[in-house]
Amino acid sequence: VDCDPQGNLSKSFEVEASGLYDGLTGGEAIVHHINNRLALLPGNLSLTLLEKRLLGEIDAYERLRDLLDIEEFSVYDFILLDTPPSLGILTINALGAADHVVIPMSPSLYSMQGTNDLMASVAKVRGRDSILHFNLLGVIINAYDSVPVITREIREEIRENFAEKLFTYHLSRSIRVEEVIIRGEGLAQQKGREYAKAREEILAITKELLNRIEASYVLG
Ligand SMILES: Nc1ncnc2c1ncn2[C@@H]1O[C@H](COP(=O)(O)OP(=O)(O)OP(=O)(O)O)[C@@H](O)[C@H]1O
Ligand SMILES: [Mg+2]
Repeated sequence: VDCDPQGNLSKSFEVEASGLYDGLTGGEAIVHHINNRLALLPGNLSLTLLEKRLLGEIDAYERLRDLLDIEEFSVYDFILLDTPPSLGILTINALGAADHVVIPMSPSLYSMQGTNDLMASVAKVRGRDSILHFNLLGVIINAYDSVPVITREIREEIRENFAEKLFTYHLSRSIRVEEVIIRGEGLAQQKGREYAKAREEILAITKELLNRIEASYVLG
């Protein structure tokens, strides 16, 4: 589900459509079937109108949760909600619909501050309202470059802030990742030797993600 008005996720699958906006505003949420294992509920610029459109509606922040509750969406093993970076109506809708939250972060001071601000706002919304019930699975470092000392320092700072919430595995910065994004493909499906490192990293992250989800149910 592409909850970002920029629609980059949808564009990477060459889909330009307003399925999410339509679904959130009482219309039909048309899902695009990418392949036999993946479907996309696309987002586009129309999502910028949502805030105005839902102004004053008492369920404005619960629309996505209610939408994903319908039977059509019960066939999926996992529903991934890709959110915009700020805490607007779309992000609150996504957090309200989510069982788990993952924060991808590249090791820059800028994104660290952004995430701290976001977590502070989330804490406020959570305290004020009871629509958020998610479990924070953790922080995944993306585009990691081990050469500059500063990125290693920032990584340590992320660890200090998030402790065991920091994933053990990360994704390194690599031109291979960009190539795969441009082709609209997945890293895990890449066969070539040149993709071996990125593929192994993404598989390790995925396993850790699944383990953390499972552990959250076992531990409660
Ligand atoms: N591991 C990586 N190595 C190299 N480049 C990367 C990596 N991850 C992401 N990128 C580059 O950064 C771009 C943005 O990445 P990503 O989509 O993860 O970030 P985002 O903050 O969600 O951005 P968006 O505004 O597009 O939603 C990608 O299109 C890609 O070009
Ligand atoms: Mg994004």
